[in-house]
This record gives sequence, structure tokens and C-alpha cells, in this order.
Amino acid sequence: MWRRTGLWLSLALLAAACSGTDGVDSSATPPTSAVSSTPAPVSTMASTTSEPDDGSGRGNEGFTRFAGPPESLGIGDNYFPDLGNPGYDVNHYTLDLVFEPAATRLGGVVTIEATALQALTTFNLDFTGLTIDSVAVDGSEAAFELIEEDVVISPQTPIAQDEEFTIDVEYGGQPRSTGSGAVPFGIGWTTVNGQNYVVAEPDGAHSWFPSNDHPLDKATYTFRINVPDGVTAAASGTFVEQITDVGRSIWVWEMRSPMTTYLATVVIGDFDIVEDPAASLDAGVAIRHVLPAGTTVADWPGLERQGEMIAYLAELFGPYPFETYGIAIVEGFGAALENQTLSLFDRNLAESFFFEDVLIHELAHQWFGDSVSLGQWSDIWLNEGFASYAEWLWIEREQGRATLETGIAVERDQFDEAGFNAPGVPPSFDLFNRAVYRVGAMTLHALRLTVGDDAFFDILKAYAARFANGSAVTADFVALAEEISAMELDDLFDAWLIEQPVPQFPPGE
Ligand code: TRP
Ligand code: ZN
Repeated sequence: MWRRTGLWLSLALLAAACSGTDGVDSSATPPTSAVSSTPAPVSTMASTTSEPDDGSGRGNEGFTRFAGPPESLGIGDNYFPDLGNPGYDVNHYTLDLVFEPAATRLGGVVTIEATALQALTTFNLDFTGLTIDSVAVDGSEAAFELIEEDVVISPQTPIAQDEEFTIDVEYGGQPRSTGSGAVPFGIGWTTVNGQNYVVAEPDGAHSWFPSNDHPLDKATYTFRINVPDGVTAAASGTFVEQITDVGRSIWVWEMRSPMTTYLATVVIGDFDIVEDPAASLDAGVAIRHVLPAGTTVADWPGLERQGEMIAYLAELFGPYPFETYGIAIVEGFGAALENQTLSLFDRNLAESFFFEDVLIHELAHQWFGDSVSLGQWSDIWLNEGFASYAEWLWIEREQGRATLETGIAVERDQFDEAGFNAPGVPPSFDLFNRAVYRVGAMTLHALRLTVGDDAFFDILKAYAARFANGSAVTADFVALAEEISAMELDDLFDAWLIEQPVPQFPPGE
């Protein structure tokens, strides 16, 4: 049977359930340029991509940033001009936070270690919602001012180009979901039925910690989350220790690979951290899930295949990119999200018949979206089209190529009637629309039929390896596909990603 659109369906349900949330920016317009050419507004971003991982944990070294003045309010994203900040590169965030579940109060200090990319008299962090008590730069108190969703910081002494510096921001308050410019529902910190977790894609991270909130600036993280006894606090990355104090615990987690801000998460509440040794053996990577207290892997049918899924995707895409993986099952957000090493699943989704598809989808994002991040948000099909195609690859493995071809053909035909936005030019206010997922995946299928299976899987592996722990844009993927296939592919990508109507599939090899 052709199981279809598990993930996108759930996202649509979420949007429907939350309609009425504001924050939609209808004034933003997508660019009209073709994929294979450089997008006009920020020409430095399209062709400059990260270097391969050098093991330093600083995957974005060498990026050419938006050449604006340091006081400009964004890193130069053509869809989200205020997101992120130029002028510095964050190397590490330490989130040292106290959370009071009874009062839903979050507070503490975030310490940001950064390198100046240019001389700085002032610089910005993205931030909204909570209250800042103090800011220090290299240990000395610094003046700060809130301008829109930025905190503008003026250190006592200017920072020289290439200098490493440290920012401490003391802040707190009641964290809440916030409106997004890109999705029609609130994102960020979420509190439901005594559970607390973060779903921040694409622009909600700066509602829970001050940050350079754009995927171009990836960094490593330490989470130190102080909660009352009896409450579990999980976070992205590897569990380090639980430090107990009178009546409280500090849960320490480390993310040792570069991570974008929106993929950073904490999950706090009545949860068990459940290791799965058998699946870890299959996967070759330590699997630990964050499950509703008292439940085990066996209570979530499908979850026992997670190790097998990692092994299979590693065969297709190359080694799993991080040192651990698992999912958290939470209540009340109606979807799933690929937080790095700890994907989040709504409980209802985990109980639904398309759980397996979504397990594959979020897992595939660890390669495509998390390890290889977006250089600009308008290229969202590089995340969602790839993760959706992984769902199809799993169906192919389980049910055969013929089932896959029939299913894709049926889905393709649905786009003949529907008015849709081509996946390479999504509206900025509806970034996660259906075509981004499904026509995005069809674009990869068309590529596969054009270049043949061997070249296709070589392309996917090379893309995952070359841009690991960094970022890429569509032009990077197209260039790599042309390089490996030795074919001219501009027209193919333009037809699928930019133009209307949706093309017919090429005949295949
Ligand atoms: N990236 C998610 C997926 O797997 C979709 C998504 C985007 C999302 N923003 C979100 C889900 C916010 C939950 C909350 O397709
Ligand atoms: Zn996705």
C-alpha cells in the first residue's frame, strides 16, 4: 500500500489546529531567479559554502558573510532580512538555565564564545520575549538596547577583527511560543500538560535564548539545565552527567558537532531516558530516546526499527553524521521536527499508522538539514524534499521499486490540477507547503531517472560528505550533480524547482 504524505499531512493538521495565530508576513516575496543562477539580493551567499568539516567543531569557518555594517539587523537572508547577524561567528553556546515547572519560569545565563569577523564597536544578537538583566563582554559589563527582535550590544572596548570574545547574557521570564514569519502557528518554547520542549524551525530559537539565529552560523553547545528533583531535563546531544543538589538536579548535555540554533532543543518533564542497546548495535551509534515516563521502546510500535533505519540510510547517504540519535515523544504540537540528534514527535503521530514514514523522514534530516544546513531559507526544499525522498526510498526497500513508481506517479498527477508554488520558490510566509515536500522529492526522483542509480546515490553521498557540518544552497547541489554525472542539469532543475506546470518524469535508464 502506498503510504503517503505522513509528515506533510501532520504539519498541515498542525497549521489548521493553530489557525488564527498571527505573524504571517504577507509582504515578503520570493525571488524569481532560476536555481542555477545566483539569487539577486545577497549575491555573496549563493556561491559561498562551508568548507568540509575540519574536525575543529567550527563548521562554518570561511563563510563570506553579508557585507553589511555590523549594526545592520540581519545576516543577509533573502527571505528573513532581520534574522541572524553579520560581523561575528559563534563558536559555542553554553546555556546554563534554571527551569521552574510550577511557574513555567526559565532563567539563567547564556555564554556565547565568538570570533569577530570584522572590527566591532557594536553587534547584535537575535532575541525576543524574555527579559535581559545584564550583558557582559569578556567579563566587563556592556551596554545593551533592544531594537525589534535584536539586542544591540556595545562593549566598553571595541573588538578587533579576528579576536575571540565572550558574551554573557543574564536573562529570564516566562517562555512562550512566538509568531513566525514562515509558518501559520506559534513556535519556540512550548508548554503542554506539564511537558516543556522547543520546536523552533525556522525562526523561533531566539525566543528562548539570545543567539545568532540563522543556520549560516552553526556552533557547538553545552546545556546545563537545573530542574527540581523528579523532573527530567533532556537536551540535544550526548548526556554527560546529572549533578544532584538539595532538591534539584542539573542535567548536562553536550552537542559536540556544529548545530544551527533552530535545531537546539530541551525536553523537560516526566520522561524516561531510554537506551536501546540492540538498535544501537544495528546502527553503530548510541540510541537513546526520551519517552513518556514508564514507557519503553516496545510501547511505540515501529520505534524498534530505528537502528535498522539508521543502518539503511547510512548505506545510501554515508555514515550517520552525529554521535548519538533518538526521538522524544511529547504532547500537543501535532507534528514532528528534526532537532539535531533528538527529533521531536507528537504523541498522536507516534501512535498513527504513518509513524514509520515520519521516523525515516526526521532521521533523514540528520544528514539533510542538520549536518548539511541551509545557506538560505528559500532553499527549504533541500531539507524537506530530501527527507520526503528518504520516505520513498524506505517504501522502495520495503515494497519494491514498482510500488514506488506507481505511488510517485499518482502524487505527481495531483499537482496537475492543484495550483501550487514550485518548490524552489516557496512563499516566505508558507515555507513548509506541500510542494516543497512532495515536488521537492519528485525533483530528486527526476534526477535519479536522468543520471541513473549509480550516479544518483554517488551524488547524495558526495553532497552529505562535502557539506557535512556546514551549509549549502541549491546551486551547490546542482553543481555537484553536474560534476558527478558529467551532465548538463540546469534545465532539469529549473523545470522542477522553478517553472510551472510540474513536468512529466523522464523515461529513466
Ligand atoms: N521540519 C519539519 C518537518 O519535519 C516541519 C516543521 C517546520 C515544523 N517548522 C516546524 C514542525 C515547527 C513543527 C514545528 O518536516
Ligand atoms: Zn521535514
